[in-house]
Amino acid sequence: MLLPMKELLLDAQRNNYAIPAINVTNLESIQAVITAAQEEQSPVIVAVYEGNLDSYISADLYGEIVRVEASKVNIPISLHLDHAKTLDKIVQAIRGGFSSVMIDGSSLPFEGNVAITKQVSQLAHAVGVSVEGEIGHMTTGDELPDSYAEMQKLMTDPREAGEFVAQTGVDALAVCVGTAHGHYKFPPKIDIERLKEIRSLTEVPLVLHGGSGTPKEEIREAIRHGIAKINVGTDYMLLYTRSISDYFSTHGVQVKPVPTFLEVRERLVEFCREKIREFRDLN
Ligand code: 13P
Repeated sequence: MLLPMKELLLDAQRNNYAIPAINVTNLESIQAVITAAQEEQSPVIVAVYEGNLDSYISADLYGEIVRVEASKVNIPISLHLDHAKTLDKIVQAIRGGFSSVMIDGSSLPFEGNVAITKQVSQLAHAVGVSVEGEIGHMTTGDELPDSYAEMQKLMTDPREAGEFVAQTGVDALAVCVGTAHGHYKFPPKIDIERLKEIRSLTEVPLVLHGGSGTPKEEIREAIRHGIAKINVGTDYMLLYTRSISDYFSTHGVQVKPVPTFLEVRERLVEFCREKIREFRDLN
């Protein structure tokens, strides 16, 4: 069943676990996430990068695929637009049936970020769609600063986080506490003291981006201190392309694509099941 993300995250927050938000691209990558949710009897978030909507699959087609697949399972599923930068994309997603949107105004000055995020909250909440905002500067692996002290300067300021949530009315807040998008130059270290302070100044579920390549123990500590959603993109996409490449290496290039896709999907399901267990079963 397709539900607003807020409902899934509040349950995770109450019960001290985190829900994987997996960055999907196409049909079998969506089916794998939902199948894993059903097999693990645990909620998941199907996340779509806003860039995919430009040239690949329209928001209404993503909406239709996820609506049909989610209706076959008795587990809460959300369809989430990830890192939207413009209102245009937000509107496309809401019209297409997404149950959650992220507006990423983190590159704007604080006031600009508040203004656009507040606007999205008003728009999305009017139709029952959840909203995630972001505060702090999230880097990608190859632009990571060389020292941890430099990195901390880019992380979320706890006071700003508190004010941001109060002023925007977001349902979830993405925080920068030591992870980065993509693969890392060195293993990430989560600033738990900062996370604790953010937690003490905000009540909404907190989101950790950059789940790929983050050590399990770091993830566990983050969940213990309030992270209720963890985004995983790079590792999932890489597994997709690697699985195709492995299949061709073993079987040669095939005329019929379906057997390749079936094997890819099987491996993706296993990946998603592992992420669900890792973020849910902390002991
Ligand atoms: P990774 O690609 O590092 O897993 O990050 C994904 C992400 O945070 C998407 O918003």
